[in-house]
Amino acid sequence: MSYNLLKGKRGIIFGALDENSIAWKTAERVFEEGGSFVLTNAPVAMRMGKINELAEKTNSKVIPADATSIEDLENLVEQAQEILGGKIDFVLHSIGMSVNVRKGRHYTDLNYAYSEKGWDVSALSFHKVMQTLYKKDAMSEWGSIVALTYMAAQRVFPDYNDMADNKAYLESIARSFGYFFGKDKSVRVNTISQSPTPTTAGQGVKGFDGFIAYADKMSPLGNATALDCANYTVTLFSDLTKRVTLQNLYNDGGFSNVGVSQGVMEHFVEE
Ligand SMILES: NC(=O)c1ccc[n+]([C@@H]2O[C@H](COP(=O)([O-])OP(=O)(O)OC[C@H]3O[C@@H](n4cnc5c(N)ncnc54)[C@H](O)[C@@H]3O)[C@@H](O)[C@H]2O)c1
Repeated sequence: MSYNLLKGKRGIIFGALDENSIAWKTAERVFEEGGSFVLTNAPVAMRMGKINELAEKTNSKVIPADATSIEDLENLVEQAQEILGGKIDFVLHSIGMSVNVRKGRHYTDLNYAYSEKGWDVSALSFHKVMQTLYKKDAMSEWGSIVALTYMAAQRVFPDYNDMADNKAYLESIARSFGYFFGKDKSVRVNTISQSPTPTTAGQGVKGFDGFIAYADKMSPLGNATALDCANYTVTLFSDLTKRVTLQNLYNDGGFSNVGVSQGVMEHFVEE
């Protein structure tokens, strides 16, 4: 169902790799709500993914950019404004990658060169994206910037590895940069803390199946899907949430406030 919530709005969507990606679902929903946008991903992901399919479906152009490269980001922000015909109203940062996770390095045995790479891609890139937009004065007044995060930033999930630290850093950047973006340009910045979701990045986490089933049993409303996340993001891009900023917003079916659920208890109660 469409409410035309984003009619006339222009944006940039990072991180759509395939149809499971949260950014893919978000692009589809933003398009249905009347928004227009440029899609972007790392050049290497372009070759592996299916982003051109999504571009066709949503009438959008694709501009490759490595989110850790200022040069790529400057080019992206300039081109996006040219293509879309004006300043940017919304940006989705949906990027995450840990080299330590990929290479199976345990948290107590990190390779720090891998850590630095993962931090640059998953956390610092959010600062780089916002600094580029800020310096180029590319955001419209009352624009909205959203990044995706996970609750391992607040609580221990042992197999989330160094991504937990990257997410804590990402959420801090949202608050720190959000302050200046709000004061100087009336732009809001938030993070959405999403339930475990079966995507390429999600499934990289060791024991993901157990992890997702546990979260589902703990959450009174069940796990939030990628589509739920896309819908929540649409509200944050719309004019209905103009003074929501500097927040880490849970889209998790209630998981973050539950101590234990009956469903989980049943596994431990002796008959
Ligand atoms: N899947 C989950 O369980 C879950 C839960 C909470 C938060 N998140 C977050 O949601 C976001 C999106 O992930 P997803 O689950 O849709 O997985 P995904 O694998 O579909 O998306 C991750 C994206 O990051 C992109 N990327 C990697 N390196 C990049 C670079 N250098 N420059 C630009 N893009 C780069 C990838 O190409 C990919 O498109 C991530 O921030 C992730 O941490 C995911």
